Amino acid sequence: MNADPILDFSGQVALITGAASGFGQLLAHELGRRGARLVLGDINEEALATVADELAGDGIDFRSKRCDVSVETDCAALVELANSAFGRLDLAVNNAGIAPPMMRLEETDEAEMDRQYNVNLKGVMFGLKYQLPLMKRHGGGAILNVSSMAGLGGAPKIASYAAAKHAVIGVTKTAAVENAKYGVRVNAICPFFTLTPMVTGIETPGVSGEEMQVFLATGCPMKRLGQPEEVVAAMLMLLSPKMTYITGQALAVDGGVSAY
Ligand SMILES: NC(=O)c1ccc[n+]([C@@H]2O[C@H](COP(=O)([O-])OP(=O)(O)OC[C@H]3O[C@@H](n4cnc5c(N)ncnc54)[C@H](O)[C@@H]3O)[C@@H](O)[C@H]2O)c1
Repeated sequence: MNADPILDFSGQVALITGAASGFGQLLAHELGRRGARLVLGDINEEALATVADELAGDGIDFRSKRCDVSVETDCAALVELANSAFGRLDLAVNNAGIAPPMMRLEETDEAEMDRQYNVNLKGVMFGLKYQLPLMKRHGGGAILNVSSMAGLGGAPKIASYAAAKHAVIGVTKTAAVENAKYGVRVNAICPFFTLTPMVTGIETPGVSGEEMQVFLATGCPMKRLGQPEEVVAAMLMLLSPKMTYITGQALAVDGGVSAY
C-alpha cells in the first residue's frame, strides 16, 4: 500500500501498449510497484518476455500478450485479457508508436503515411474502441494516449508522424467529451525528444548519436532532452485516481519548448 493517495494505484487494473521498451516499460514498473495489476501488450514478443521476467521478479501481478496495435482484433484481444484475468479495466495507456525515417513532406510516399496512421493513429483508436466499454461497465477510469510535441506543432521532416500525432489529440478530446459523463477521463501526453530507444537509436549518416542529441537539445529552453523518468512521472500524474477533474487535455512535457 502506497502512503500517498495521489500515487496509490492499489487494486487498479492498468493496460499498457508498447510495454516492452521506453515509456511503456518504465510505466509498467512504476504502476506495478504502486499496486496496480497490469495487462501488457507489444508487437516485440522477445522484449516483452524480458519485461515480464523483470516484473515477475518484483512480485508484480500481470498478464502479457503479443499485440500489434494496428490490428483491430489484437487490440480487442488485449482488452479481453484484462476482462478474463481481472474482470475490469481502470487505466489504459495507448503508448505503442513508431518513428518515421526523416524525409521532407514532398518525399513522403503513401506507404510511409499508411504505416504512421496504422500504428500511431488507428492503434490508439482501436485501443479506445475496446477499452471504453469495459471501463464504463465498472464505473469509469482513465485513459492516456501518447501523442508528441509533433502533435502540437510543425515537425520538420516527419510530416506523417506529425499528422498522426495531431490526430491523436483530436481523438483524445473527442473521447473525453463523449465519455466524461460515464466517469472516464481521456488525456494525451506530448513529450519532446526523450532518451528512450526511439531517440537513442536515431541513425543519421555522418552524425554520431551524441551529436544528434546535442543538436536536438538546442531547440529546447532547458538545452537538454527529456529523461524517460520525467515523462513517466507526468503519465502517473494524469492517471492518478485523485486527478479526477482533468480530462481532454494534451499535456506538453517538453522542457519549455511550447513556451516559446
Ligand atoms: N521518445 C521520444 O522522444 C518520444 C517523444 C514523443 C512521443 N513519443 C511517443 O512515445 C511512445 C513510446 O515511445 P518510446 O519513446 O517509449 O519508444 P520505444 O521505441 O522505446 O518503445 C515503443 C514500443 O512500441 C512497440 N511497438 C511498435 N509498434 C508497435 C505495434 N504496431 N504494436 C504494438 N507495439 C508496437 C515497440 O516494440 C516498442 O516496445 C510512442 O507513441 C512515441 O511516438 C516518444
